[in-house]
Amino acid sequence: MEKSKTTQFDEIIRARIRQGRAIITKFADEDAAIPETYMTDQELKKPQPPLAKAPMTDRITDLPNDFDALDIRSDFLGIINDRKSHRVYTDQPLTLRELSYLLWCTQGVKDVRGKSYATIRTVPCGGARHEFECYMAIRRVEGLEPGLYHYLPMTHQIEFLGESADMGGFISRSLQEQNWALKASVVFYYSCVFYRAEWRYGVWAHPVIMMDSGHITENLYLAATSIGLGGCAIAAVDPEACNREFGLDGVEETIFYAMPVGTVDPADRESEDAFYAFVREEGL
Ligand SMILES: Cc1cc2nc3c(=O)[nH]c(=O)nc-3n(C[C@H](O)[C@H](O)[C@H](O)COP(=O)(O)O)c2cc1C
Repeated sequence: MEKSKTTQFDEIIRARIRQGRAIITKFADEDAAIPETYMTDQELKKPQPPLAKAPMTDRITDLPNDFDALDIRSDFLGIINDRKSHRVYTDQPLTLRELSYLLWCTQGVKDVRGKSYATIRTVPCGGARHEFECYMAIRRVEGLEPGLYHYLPMTHQIEFLGESADMGGFISRSLQEQNWALKASVVFYYSCVFYRAEWRYGVWAHPVIMMDSGHITENLYLAATSIGLGGCAIAAVDPEACNREFGLDGVEETIFYAMPVGTVDPADRESEDAFYAFVREEGL
């Protein structure tokens, strides 16, 4: 007997959920489908991929690293306790030093392990592969032309990739119409360059990538909180829209995570709380 459309659909959903769970459960497992002789490319002594993407343009800006000039909170526990997601921003631009600080706290390179084996950064990362690149849609940062940018962690610089033909439309599409993000001064978009992690971890790279990415946005939350800014991590991105805008192939490198950040005002508390009005309305 032919299966009903609902049954077929249920099976697809169940299979998809099993697949999703397998990314985590197969991680440390002996996987019968993978022969014991399997070796990762690092074990096979294949050449290591670059530690970071080389500049793609010559429109490069040095970032200030005199962070002492910023008014940074030092009450660690207070920062942890005050961290929250902010979705309401003021029109006040960020300074270049503030942007520099956020980039440093999330992806800054403190050291290189060995001759060029790995970068040691301000965030931890499985095998120190640091498989991420940071792109930005910048709308309001003092001294920077609005447009699309890319962080160069090896030299703590940013490069200007060009204007966006329709910045508002892009941000909206890329974040699946979460239009509160349109007022952010900067939207950070994180891509994954898969092979950087796969070279070392092979078939086991992918859960590590998911684990690694959380450290970046948590540092971004905390760094923003420490200088009075606010942001909100976003998983609901549209990778195709992002990859098209930043010229990524979506196969070797894809954007998968974003975070708008802007200036915040405690007076906007009510508008912030309105995002969760449904909790009260639905009696949750
Ligand atoms: C991985 C991740 C994905 C998220 N995706 C979204 C999102 O797409 N849209 C959104 O409004 N908030 C998103 N958030 C924010 C969460 O809703 C928020 O962290 C949660 O409600 C707890 O609130 P708090 O951050 O203020 O403690 C995301 C947070 C994380 C860590």
